[in-house]
Amino acid sequence: MGFSKAIITSGPTREWIDPVRYISNASSGKMGFHIAEEVAHWIPEVVYIHGQVLDDYKSPKGTKEISVETTSDMCDAVLGELAEGTILIMAAAPADFRPSRSKESKIKKEDGSETLLLELVKNPDILKTVSSKIQKEEIAGCCLVGFAAETDSLEDHAQGKLKSKNLDYIVGNYVGKNQKGFGEVDTTVIIFSSSGKTTKIGPFSKEVISQKIVAFLKGETEKSFVKS
Ligand code: PMT
Repeated sequence: MGFSKAIITSGPTREWIDPVRYISNASSGKMGFHIAEEVAHWIPEVVYIHGQVLDDYKSPKGTKEISVETTSDMCDAVLGELAEGTILIMAAAPADFRPSRSKESKIKKEDGSETLLLELVKNPDILKTVSSKIQKEEIAGCCLVGFAAETDSLEDHAQGKLKSKNLDYIVGNYVGKNQKGFGEVDTTVIIFSSSGKTTKIGPFSKEVISQKIVAFLKGETEKSFVKS
């Protein structure tokens, strides 16, 4: 079966502590951008939902672009675009936590205190929210592809997320300091399928990795993907 729509998410989200400071991460948007450009050669309608990505990674050719700020905004945008026959590829790195209260004025450091305690609350898990909506509303023909960004035990963590988020595929990659995962680096990914299949790709540039991930998904879903 073919998909009529693709949603690709990309980049980091921002959770504001006060008007000048935020919690985020080092995602540049490069992986999501190249996946979106590649998917645009395959699927007629592609929506690219991104956080604060680098300028080069804002507007993939052949896609509709939606810019968001927080994880909740990204979740709302994905839910708003979800339709029958959609493949969702979540390459974004949404912040898992946000400050319980965002201050209206800049927090002053001149108050003499040497520590600042921040209380964080959990953000919605976008993939879990989408997969329960698909089940509850019986939205037919959808396919959910997550990424797993890990600093250790890639296989165990990726397999855990594949199951707990009820995904069809998850693309595992290592991230961290020392030129791993984020930005302009060559990388290696392992794709875990809910059927139990494991496929390693790389090391290659993210342009090439994206082409191969999309070719893999196209091959897999066109030959055998039937889900309602
Ligand atoms: O942007 P680049 O610099 O090119 O870097 C690419 C990348 C490292 C960001 C990308 O390859 C990647 O791994 N993206 C996933 C980052 C991430 O949030 O991983 P996670 O293991 O924390 O989350 C697992 C999955 O759940 C991801 O698909 C994520 O998008 C999704 N998620 C996470 C948090 C949340 N609240 N809701 C979600 O749906």
